[in-house]
This record gives sequence, C-alpha cells and structure tokens, in this order.
Amino acid sequence: MRKTLIVGNWKMHLSTHEASLLAHRLNDHIEAHQDVEVVLAPSVLSLQPLSVQIDRRKFRLAAQNANEHDQGAYTGEVSFTMLHDLVHYVIIGHSERRLYFNEGLETVRDKVAACVRNKITPILCVGETHVERKAGETNQVLHDQVSTALMHLTSRDVQDMVIAYEPVWAISTFGGELAKPADVEAALKRIRLELRELYGDKVADSVRIIYGGSVDDQVAAGYLAVPGCDGLLPGSASLNYHKFSAIVAAAHRQHKQSRESA
Ligand code: PGA
Repeated sequence: MRKTLIVGNWKMHLSTHEASLLAHRLNDHIEAHQDVEVVLAPSVLSLQPLSVQIDRRKFRLAAQNANEHDQGAYTGEVSFTMLHDLVHYVIIGHSERRLYFNEGLETVRDKVAACVRNKITPILCVGETHVERKAGETNQVLHDQVSTALMHLTSRDVQDMVIAYEPVWAISTFGGELAKPADVEAALKRIRLELRELYGDKVADSVRIIYGGSVDDQVAAGYLAVPGCDGLLPGSASLNYHKFSAIVAAAHRQHKQSRESA
C-alpha cells in the first residue's frame, strides 16, 4: 500500500520565527507513523532554518515554487539546483502560480523537468477553474495539464512523483463550496487513467495522487476515504497545529483501517 502523504502548504504566511514556532508545536503534537509521510512547505526563507530544526523521522520539507533555470541572470529567483540539498519536494503549478504569476502549461512542464533533473520529487498541482467546470471541461483540463507537464519525463521519473488534484473553485472556500467526494473520486480516476495511457499500469499505480482544496480536520477523513486518494494538501488548516496534527492523525487511522480490512 502506498504511504499516505500529507503536505502542509503554508503559502506566503509566517516569518521565520513564526515558522520555527509552528514547526516546534507540530513536533510536539505529531507522532511519527510508518504509514504517513508529513511534508511542510514553508516560505523559501524558512527552508534552511527548518531543515536544521525538524526531526527528519517525522517531517520532510517542500518548496512552494522554484525557477526552471538552474542558474543565471534571473534576479529574485531561486532554482531547483539551489534547493537540491534542502528539500525532498517542490510544489509545481499551484493554481495561485498559474493564475497570479501567469505560469502556463509550458512553464509548468519546464519546472517539472528542472525538478527531476535536480533529483527533487515534484508535487504537480492540477485542477480546473469554476468556469471550466461549468463548461464541462474538467477532463480536458486535466488531460492538458497532466500530459504537458510530464512531456519530457521517463517512466522512472514519473513513477516517483506526486500529483495533487486541486480544483481551483474549491481552494480556501471554508464555509463555501466544497468538492464532493464523488467529484474528487472522478478526477483522481481521470488522472490515473491519463497516467495509465501514457506510461502503463506499473507507473500509474505507483504515482501518489492527493487532494487539496479547503481540507481541514473536519473533512479530511472523508477525502482520505475516497478510493485512489493517497493523501491531502491542506493550505489554511496547515497553519493551525491542532488542525494539521488532527489531519495527520486521521490519515494514520484511515491507513490502519484500510490495512485491516484488506
Ligand atoms: P486551502 O489551500 O486548504 O486553504 O484551500 C490548499 C492549497 O491551495 O494548496
């Protein structure tokens, strides 16, 4: 059985001091579980101090973005090469990057290639907007985003990666619209089918596909129970150590249950 992956995306929140404090609290509240992998994605500024602070048996680190060039005259940017010995993962193609920083399909593709080239595991985010959903284009969007992003990768590269399904219309909507487990199930299936067609069964079955979009401690178990869901990517809830540690605990419970009933 694949390990359940819980990735906390802290987005552009917390000073280095606050990030260190949150990591400390999480360390107190989260137990190390064999079956759950917990990843923290703080701001790039906090990666270095947290890499020294965290207990590596409990936590891994992810960057939220990086530049597709390994080095050069790109003022203000940080490359995958620079992140290589700091992080296990980099989140690529998050909808906020696609929307606010104009990252198109080709940029995302180049970032995924740069990530793999630098021996970091990509967490590729895909998902349709509200307009695309209403127009019935979800499958087409998932096809375009997945097939373009993986264009330059071998089966070996793909089998280790993570894909996060994050419907744009369901991100940070707390109290508003939530994706229904049935919607999530259909999208996850679609993504795995895409992988099956491109790379065959072995690769499709080894890629971890996770869900993100207003996940908190109240709804986590419901999403984790969706067939084919290998984990979660909470944003806002990951800034609250009670909520985030409850999500990790739910993942552990869920994993245990499905092992027992298998
Ligand atoms: P949210 O963020 O949990 O606040 O919806 C998720 C994400 O954007 O990755």
